[in-house]
Amino acid sequence: MQLPSRSAAGAALLLLLHCCQLASIVGQKSALTVVKNPDGREGGGADEEAEVTVDEDEGDLEVVQPTEDWQTLKPGQAVPAGSHVRLDLQTGQREVKLGEEQLKYWTQEHRETEEIQSTISPDELKWAMKKMKEEQNSERQDTDQQLTDSVASKYRSLDELKRDLAQLDLLVETDFQIMKRLLDQFNSSNSTTEQRLSILLELEYLVHQVDNAQTLCSMGGLQLILEGLNSTDIRLQERSAFVLGSAVSSNPVVQVKAVESGALQPLLTILATAQPLRVKKKVLFAVAALLRNFPYAQRHFLSHGGLQVLSELFKADGGGVLRTRIVTMLYDMISEKELISQAGLDLVLDASHEERVHQYSLVSLQVELLEKGWCSLVPQLLESTEHDYREKALRALLAMAPVCLDQYRSDSALLGSLLSLRDQYQEMVQSEMIVGEENSYFAEIVELIHALQVKMK
Ligand SMILES: *[C@@H]1O[C@H](CO)[C@@H](O)[C@H](O)[C@H]1NC(C)=O
Ligand SMILES: *[C@@H]1O[C@H](CO)[C@@H](O)[C@H](O)[C@H]1NC(C)=O
Ligand SMILES: *[C@@H]1O[C@H](CO)[C@@H](O)[C@H](O)[C@H]1NC(C)=O
Repeated sequence: MQLPSRSAAGAALLLLLHCCQLASIVGQKSALTVVKNPDGREGGGADEEAEVTVDEDEGDLEVVQPTEDWQTLKPGQAVPAGSHVRLDLQTGQREVKLGEEQLKYWTQEHRETEEIQSTISPDELKWAMKKMKEEQNSERQDTDQQLTDSVASKYRSLDELKRDLAQLDLLVETDFQIMKRLLDQFNSSNSTTEQRLSILLELEYLVHQVDNAQTLCSMGGLQLILEGLNSTDIRLQERSAFVLGSAVSSNPVVQVKAVESGALQPLLTILATAQPLRVKKKVLFAVAALLRNFPYAQRHFLSHGGLQVLSELFKADGGGVLRTRIVTMLYDMISEKELISQAGLDLVLDASHEERVHQYSLVSLQVELLEKGWCSLVPQLLESTEHDYREKALRALLAMAPVCLDQYRSDSALLGSLLSLRDQYQEMVQSEMIVGEENSYFAEIVELIHALQVKMK
């Protein structure tokens, strides 16, 4: 059966969705068929019944009914209000289960009340779908008038049904509504720390979408996040930094708002004070995301003593996790500035390019790196046993070479490290070649070491 038009298909789909929802409320199978003759009158046989299929291109939301177990959400699927949504960081998938509020509603003893509240029976829905289809096919209406009237008397009017369906629609929240609710809950003096922590996790998931992160700002959420950073509870600090970092990642509008709201200061304060590693990791993540491709924020960072704070952090970090992140961040800052100035050589430039070059010229990163002792700090990362850490250190050393070369040359520890690392990695490349591997990671590291040695000659 072809549905008469796109809008009719839309209407039918809407009903199907609500019916699925309803069907699960009353514990029936959610498969739905359109019944042309609900009174059971015999008609034309098999095609009196036809399945309504969900056309994904319609762009309508598919509503997933959460259960007590986690289930994976596909793109474009929506969940009812109050659902507990989380992100599986391993797979990148969204998962949903019943939130606590819903558990109250959906457990067995509440099902009956729910059934009474949502007073639309599956039969009524089927009838409504038929009715709406008929409205589209108005030419057929006169012949069926008698029948329709008799059926209608058994059920409520179509308008009533539509109104009730609209009420059911409230069960499906948009991201906007979800964020509003989460922020209200977060801001409520009644919320416990545990609740706030889980709200932050949900927000963190939502703000990966550029629009959502901007909405969060316009709802005043940024202020709440900054207060979270100020909290005395380290778990709240950690999660707030996580949300902030995700919100500003690749989101220039939010980057600007965050810097304007003074986000850098509390972040630097956390980095400068005694805090557990996991808090500092998330805060560094937020700082790096905030500074990325944003020279104005970088200037603020430098003028607020950011490099000084980082160097203290670098010296205190024995394990190397923070060291590596710091060095990677410095490398990113140097190379993005470099890229901007190189772009002038061979590209047809837009008007904003000059402004960007100007902005970056105000970031006195290299000079500061030299002054704050980074030329001798970064080589220390080569002492790590992790290949990855060493690689990051080598890249940063190369990027810093223009200002640090003199210091490198007089750094006997660095010279020694480079020699022994080169031997070590060449050996590893040799044994890899025996196994038959090409273009190995280790060969890449040998090349980095070689490039640095050439510069230092
Ligand atoms: C806190 O909870 C009480 C009762 O549970 C309620 O009356 C009050 O409105 C709540 N306050 C806020 C700010 O939500
Ligand atoms: C949080 O609550 C305070 C008052 O309790 C209010 O002034 C503020 O606007 C609220 N913030 C958000 C983001 O809802
Ligand atoms: C965080 O704390 C600092 C210092 O106590 C204060 O100046 C600032 O206004 C606070 N920020 C927020 C968002 O509460």
